[in-house]
Amino acid sequence: MRIDIITVLPELIQGFMQESIVGRAQKKGLVEIYIHNLRDYTLDKWRRVDDYPFGGFAGMVMQCEPIDRCISTLKAERHYDQIIFTTPDGEQFNQPMANSLSLCENIIILCGHYKGIDYRVREHLITKEVSIGDYVLTGGELAAAVMADAIVRILPGAIGDEQSALSDSFQDKLLAAPVYTRPAEYKGWKVPEVLLSGNERLIKEWELQQSLERTQRLRPDLLSDDATIDSKKEYKRK
Ligand code: ADE
Repeated sequence: MRIDIITVLPELIQGFMQESIVGRAQKKGLVEIYIHNLRDYTLDKWRRVDDYPFGGFAGMVMQCEPIDRCISTLKAERHYDQIIFTTPDGEQFNQPMANSLSLCENIIILCGHYKGIDYRVREHLITKEVSIGDYVLTGGELAAAVMADAIVRILPGAIGDEQSALSDSFQDKLLAAPVYTRPAEYKGWKVPEVLLSGNERLIKEWELQQSLERTQRLRPDLLSDDATIDSKKEYKRK
């Protein structure tokens, strides 16, 4: 997979992309991540990529030309499955979207900034608009980093134990069960007895019951979904 990120603040995401699972996935050759400085694509002698909005509104707006030049350069070299724009008024990013984007061959993520971008970019170049939550960030860089992390960590081979990505919270629309490690007792705080029992069936049952209880308590909205109910039935049949 290849992810191209277009930004006016490359330094903000560069470090993040070199660390942890995303960094290791690149070293393993599972993903290539390229960060492009939008200012390298402007024809302006001051390297400006924004201008005042028509209509006398407040703030600055990112111009069409540098974005179009950057995206066109990339598209001339390969096909992109999605050209994504990060924006608070986009479709809400979630686990199913991360799963589906992780199946793409090549994607571009354009990070929004300032007051916005010239709407013609959204109409003519962007194929998907994504928000990471109902709040406004200074720019789309953190949103791009969040998306890249969620996408890359589920690529086969990115996490040592693949099962652990599948058992993440939200993968089956349930929150994950609690996890514990040694020692079995610390300051009198005990690990649930069943986890020490070695009985795989009881442990699996405990895990599901914990998942359901936590989801019911913390995210009841997830349980109203048909897919969750189906996954519970499926589990009980096994
Ligand atoms: N840019 C600013 N706020 C954002 C958000 N919530 N999601 C995605 N991009 C953004």
